[in-house]
Amino acid sequence: IDLAETAIRGTFLDFIDDPWKHVGNEEAAVRFHADGLLVVEAGKIVDFGPYAEVAPKHPGVAITEIRDRIILPGFIDGHIHLPQTRVLGAYGEQLLPWLQKWVFPEEHKYADRAYAEEGTKHFFDNLLASGTTTAQTFTTGNLTCNEVFFEEATKRNMRMIGGLTGIDRHVPDYFANTPEQFYDDSKTLIEKFHGVGRNLYAITPRFGFGASNELLAACQKLKEEHPDLWINTHISENPAEIHGVLALHDDCHDYLGVYEKYDLVGPKFTGGHGVWLSNDEFRRLSDSGAAVSFCPSSNLYLGSGLFRLGKATDPEHRVLLNFGTDMGGGNRFSLLNTLEDAYKVGMLNNTILDGSIIPSDQDLAESERNKLSPFRAFYSLTRGGAESLYIDDLVGTFDIGKEADFVALDWTAGPPATAWHQSLLHDGGELTLEAASDLLFGIMMVSDERAVDETWVMGERAYKKA
Ligand code: GUN
Ligand code: ZN
Repeated sequence: IDLAETAIRGTFLDFIDDPWKHVGNEEAAVRFHADGLLVVEAGKIVDFGPYAEVAPKHPGVAITEIRDRIILPGFIDGHIHLPQTRVLGAYGEQLLPWLQKWVFPEEHKYADRAYAEEGTKHFFDNLLASGTTTAQTFTTGNLTCNEVFFEEATKRNMRMIGGLTGIDRHVPDYFANTPEQFYDDSKTLIEKFHGVGRNLYAITPRFGFGASNELLAACQKLKEEHPDLWINTHISENPAEIHGVLALHDDCHDYLGVYEKYDLVGPKFTGGHGVWLSNDEFRRLSDSGAAVSFCPSSNLYLGSGLFRLGKATDPEHRVLLNFGTDMGGGNRFSLLNTLEDAYKVGMLNNTILDGSIIPSDQDLAESERNKLSPFRAFYSLTRGGAESLYIDDLVGTFDIGKEADFVALDWTAGPPATAWHQSLLHDGGELTLEAASDLLFGIMMVSDERAVDETWVMGERAYKKA
């Protein structure tokens, strides 16, 4: 990293609050500098604000100008699977048969170091090309795969969360962990990688359906011994899975109860999907400070269901949320596609909530919260994601002291329809916040990762679109 002070001049947008707290007045959650200056030293933000105010305080600083772009904090993918990089877009199955047919055979290949290294390079290249600078990542239950993951993350100097992904039930023998090996290899990785560089470790039981009591007890022991670690898993994704979980853990009365029984639910816990969570489970997640990862591309692709975004964001029991691609359960690497699908899921949910089918089910406040405005969307990929993962002291905004990870979006780039569509919303001149909001919505609904022009990590350009 560059130890000297450098600066980036351009149009910056980040969030100072949760837009869902400002229904009808979401701009109150936004910070926008049409002509801003971000000053970086040793990878961290040391000054930020309007160019005219900040520049005089840093005479002679080398400035990189990024014109005609909207610069946002780097995107945070709360739920993604490294070893599914090659198998995204697999045909024909819902979750449980999809895992058996496509996923376990592919993930098993990552026990081979050379294969794992190749797949891991593809994984990180695709993250950067998508504007994703932080990801909470599933790996496999194999030590080599995890070493390769953390080594590559260290090389790229990216803020990553991940850990050995344990499974010992409903899994072919060749791919199963034992609770003892899961515990021992997790310990090895925690000691070698947690807090080294920008790496953070997540205790990772794959899901309740694939975890014995002994495996979950090993997770509990790891968390007791290392209370600062993250916990990453899946929850209530698919109806067949949920039935199986309650059969395997027949002393628990719902899916969240399985994780609660082992004291895993609280701050730094993320449950992926949560499509079928009950109101009571949402309330318990909210009370505990745990997070849910909303993975709409995957939930649509695998036919899992429609996540109740407006329920999770109910101010009475707001659940911390991050958004995840769940690649390869999701068929895209880009969180911009995730936003597109999230918007459509909200609209579909509102077919029920508007009361036109069942008048007694009308809930207009919840239906308003289901609508993924551009500010709600990009908040969720940045500040909101960081808060849900308890890394908002590190990333997610342009506040002084944060790590300088950011993405420059070209609102005219994308499918051929993009540029002309966007010119309806803004046709030259200095951007206003209103125009920026419209263009961001155009990026998430009409464009894709072609809008990602540059991705910067710790104040250095890590990706530039060809
Ligand atoms: N549940 C357990 N493993 C997986 C996985 O790899 N993908 C998804 N979407 N759900 C899971
Ligand atoms: Zn997943």
